[in-house]
Amino acid sequence: MPTDLYLIRLSSHQGDSHARVLAHLRQLSDDDLALRFGLARVKDETLVSYVRGLNFDRDVVLALQDPSSNIAALAHAARYEVQLATGREARAEVSFSVVPAHRGCGLAQLLMRAIIEAAAEAGIDRLCAQCVSANRPMRTVFAHTGWSVEVDSGEVVAALTVRDHARASHVQTI
Ligand SMILES: CC(C)(COP(=O)(O)OP(=O)(O)OC[C@H]1O[C@@H](n2cnc3c(N)ncnc32)[C@H](O)[C@@H]1OP(=O)(O)O)[C@@H](O)C(=O)NCCC(=O)NCCS
Repeated sequence: MPTDLYLIRLSSHQGDSHARVLAHLRQLSDDDLALRFGLARVKDETLVSYVRGLNFDRDVVLALQDPSSNIAALAHAARYEVQLATGREARAEVSFSVVPAHRGCGLAQLLMRAIIEAAAEAGIDRLCAQCVSANRPMRTVFAHTGWSVEVDSGEVVAALTVRDHARASHVQTI
């Protein structure tokens, strides 16, 4: 990993978190945004709406940022609950973005491991994720970090049971 990047968990206490996430997403190309959001075309107002709706207290949002607080890589685990026959289960849908200049350095894999650990600390039982089957880098990240993957009709549906993979660790919250 580039030595000038450090890992943080974004929080609502830090007033500019929403603006910094938006600035990060605006660095992505149209094709990257389509992969990130699973939409054919992502308009700027979609980004603004997504960022406005981010709940840093409910969700786990991790960033790798430089000393000027520019976000190079972002992972969002959006929390929700499901009712199973065995009781309620906390789940989160995860999504990733890395700015082009920092790709291929292992940042998404580092963030994935960190989000699994942060999910364990937050009491999340299961992580889920989706991407198109042509997204080889994301599929490699799933393969390197222990996810179960099913491919159907050009879509990858991935899942991971948190307790099977989390290690004790600490993510700095600012
Ligand atoms: C997907 C994404 C997050 C990966 O970020 P990254 O930091 O470059 O990923 P990493 O460097 O941790 O790992 C990528 C792996 O894919 C591999 N890879 C890259 N291109 C590949 C290809 N065409 N075929 C197979 N593997 C490929 C890399 O070699 C690396 O594996 P390695 O560690 O064994 O060498 C980034 O490309 C991105 O932001 N894409 C746009 C948004 C997106 O697709 N998000 C995912 C959907 S939620």
